[in-house]
Amino acid sequence: MTDILDLAGRVALVTGAGQGVGRQIALHLAAHNAGGVVVNDFVLARAEAVAEEIRAEGGKAIALQADVSDFAAVKAMVAEASATLGPIGVLVNNAGNAGANPSPDLAKPFWETGPEAWNSFIGVNFYGVMNCTAAVIPGMIGRRAPGRIVTIISDAGRWGDAGLEAYAGAKAGAAGFMRSVARTLGRYDITANSVAIALTATPAVERQLQGDPEVLKRMLEKYIVRRPGRPDDIANMVLFLASDASSWITGQTYPVNGGFSLAL
Ligand SMILES: NC(=O)c1ccc[n+]([C@@H]2O[C@H](COP(=O)([O-])OP(=O)(O)OC[C@H]3O[C@@H](n4cnc5c(N)ncnc54)[C@H](O)[C@@H]3O)[C@@H](O)[C@H]2O)c1
Repeated sequence: MTDILDLAGRVALVTGAGQGVGRQIALHLAAHNAGGVVVNDFVLARAEAVAEEIRAEGGKAIALQADVSDFAAVKAMVAEASATLGPIGVLVNNAGNAGANPSPDLAKPFWETGPEAWNSFIGVNFYGVMNCTAAVIPGMIGRRAPGRIVTIISDAGRWGDAGLEAYAGAKAGAAGFMRSVARTLGRYDITANSVAIALTATPAVERQLQGDPEVLKRMLEKYIVRRPGRPDDIANMVLFLASDASSWITGQTYPVNGGFSLAL
């Protein structure tokens, strides 16, 4: 039977793919005939471990270190990736949370801090998306073949999240950016969509919950499906949006969230 999720040999770049959701996205894309996967992470050793996992399964992958909030570093990474594997056909903007160097002030109310602290969130979650998208577009258009851009946002950016204003604003901004990118790039057969996720069991979240089952139970009261998301719940949707099965879908934001919030 033909695989409707086959990626037809497109080269994929997944940011922040050294662990958690990004790692699983990279593994999913590799398993569905990506022409190669560029595993990016700020922490090179993490990216290398995931690239090695892909190669061990017979896939093609390279690990590249870059902080996505640094435009020069992103341009250099995309140039190296394209020279090694060919132009990027699938970009997944996954790097997020509080970025590579979180400010120690993030737990304070945002009005008691300032742009330096806010930039932990805005740098990776908004500029990171814009930097990577800008860097891959020329090569993606030049391929003259379907292209896919998928950005991982958060339900915080759709629904709001007390205490996470800068993060929520950056994620909502990234989704708005993707809607306009979708309109601009439609004529090149390039789609751009966002996936809004909620509580997902990744190293970042496990650190926050610190193994306290009561905290987790209280959080899950807001979910229709009473379990945290798993990285493969998210990777399934991203794979679909990266494949030709989604060719009539663009400019959208899909919640993958156990029913935490409902989209109209
Ligand atoms: N896990 C959740 O519950 C949850 C909920 C909502 C949204 N999200 C979003 O999902 C995405 C993945 O989250 P996760 O929990 O798997 O993340 P994570 O923090 O567990 O892993 C992210 C990886 O990205 C890397 N990274 C961080 N900043 C980077 C940068 N500036 N440049 C390059 N790499 C960088 C980190 O080194 C890390 O390996 C993020 O965009 C996050 O905001 C996660």
